[in-house]
Amino acid sequence: MTLQRILPFTRTLLDSVLEKGSIAIDGTCGNGHDTLYLAERVGEEGKVYGYDIQEEALLATKARLEKEGHLSQVNLIHSSHAHVLDTIEETDKGQVAAAIFNLGYLPGGDKSIVTNPKDTLEAVSSILELLKPGGLLIVVVYSGHQEGKKESDAVLKFTSELDQRDYQVLRYGFINQKNNPPYVLAISKT
Ligand SMILES: C[S@@+](CC[C@H](N)C(=O)[O-])C[C@H]1O[C@@H](n2cnc3c(N)ncnc32)[C@H](O)[C@@H]1O
Repeated sequence: MTLQRILPFTRTLLDSVLEKGSIAIDGTCGNGHDTLYLAERVGEEGKVYGYDIQEEALLATKARLEKEGHLSQVNLIHSSHAHVLDTIEETDKGQVAAAIFNLGYLPGGDKSIVTNPKDTLEAVSSILELLKPGGLLIVVVYSGHQEGKKESDAVLKFTSELDQRDYQVLRYGFINQKNNPPYVLAISKT
C-alpha cells in the first residue's frame, strides 16, 4: 500500500466531520485551496470563516471561490486568526465542526510574511473553545525554516499538554523524508 500523503490525509479527516450545513474555519486562506474544499463540503446551507493577514491571499481565495460558485457561504476576514473569537458570530460559538491551519508563507508570495507562534497559539486555543463536541482542528506544520521550527515547538508543546479527557491529539508525518516535510496535528474534541 501507499500511505496517504499530508494533503490527502487532511481531506480524509475533514470528510469525516463535515457535512452540508456544517460550520468550518480556514485559519490561513493563502491561495484558497482549503477554503474552497471546506466551502464545497459545507454547501450553501453551511458557513466557512476564512482568515488571512494579506489582501493578496484573500483576493486569490475570493477569485477561486467565485470561479467555482462557492463564495456565498464564505465569510472572508482580513485579520489575523488570533482574532477569531472576536470575529465569529455568537451563535456559531461551540458549533464549529472543523478548522484547518496551513502554517508558513503564501506560496508564490512574500516569504517573509509567515505565521508566528504567538498568533498561532492564540488562534489554536480559541478554536478549541469554538469546536462542537466531536469537532476537529487540523494544523499542517512546517518546521523546515527557522521561524517554522519555533512555531512547531510551540504548537507541539501546547497540544501535547492538552488534557486527554477533553481532546485526542494525533501527529501524522513521514519521518524518513529529506528537507523536513510538513506534518499534521489533528485535535479532536471529545
Ligand atoms: C501556507 S499559506 C496557506 C495555504 C492555503 N491553505 C492554501 O490552500 O492555499 C499560509 C498563509 O497564512 C497567512 N498568515 C500568516 N500569518 C497569519 C495570521 N496571523 N493570521 C492569518 N493568516 C496568516 C499568510 O499570509 C499565508 O497566506
